[in-house]
Amino acid sequence: MDALLDWWADMGVEADPAVIRAARKAVAAPRRPSETRKPEAPPARSRKPRTPEDWAEEAWRAAAAAGDIPALKAAIEAFDGSPLKAGAENTVVFDGVPGAPVMVIGEGPGAEEDRQGLPFVGKAGQLLDRMLAAIRLSRAENTLITNVNYWRPPKNRNPDPDELIVCRPFVDRLIELSAPKLIIAAGGVPTTSLLATKTGIMRLRGKPKEYQTPGGWSGPLVPIFHPAFLLRRPQEKARAWVDLQMIERMLREAGVELG
Ligand code: URA
Repeated sequence: MDALLDWWADMGVEADPAVIRAARKAVAAPRRPSETRKPEAPPARSRKPRTPEDWAEEAWRAAAAAGDIPALKAAIEAFDGSPLKAGAENTVVFDGVPGAPVMVIGEGPGAEEDRQGLPFVGKAGQLLDRMLAAIRLSRAENTLITNVNYWRPPKNRNPDPDELIVCRPFVDRLIELSAPKLIIAAGGVPTTSLLATKTGIMRLRGKPKEYQTPGGWSGPLVPIFHPAFLLRRPQEKARAWVDLQMIERMLREAGVELG
């Protein structure tokens, strides 16, 4: 304020006392908050969390864009739509021979599969390999092995429906790209999820069903007992053997050469 009066004096301006009073008041007056506050940021745009259906749609787009099996595998590994992914060590996609006449579809990775990044490599997987070998099938020669869910659920619980719907477009696309002659659904989870039924595996095992993908593959799907179930209930192995023999017969009739 005094600097202002000095400046006026230098300029030869005679300060009017009323003007000085008004000027002092203006300098002393506290600033109104609105003059000192930083401009407010515009309200953040509220982002709705994405639903499993949103993620499933994204999975359909990613799966449809994959023109071959390596591209599909990369798309599955890049996909972030499963809540299980954060807790998993690996994305477990498939093992075996792409384009093989037989595709086995299981439930999802367990501890050993999560560690190795490959399906059916734990105790149940070893039994599955023996079951396949009994009808001259193997992941080394003529079988592709995958699951309806690619990430290990906590404590090995069953994957829930929201976790399955986001994987389903990839499962169907793998079927279309690999084009098997026959699908084996190993256990109740893949069977009920692929066939969209509530009927249990006890009633569905050994009964071939026609399965169709949205992209136009169609063929037989045969439900069998899950090998982990057979480890717990070895007395059921006789029925599993009947189902395997039927699968072998179906493959022979379809002209598939077994190893
Ligand atoms: N059980 C399954 O269903 N899939 C696997 O990959 C391993 C165990």
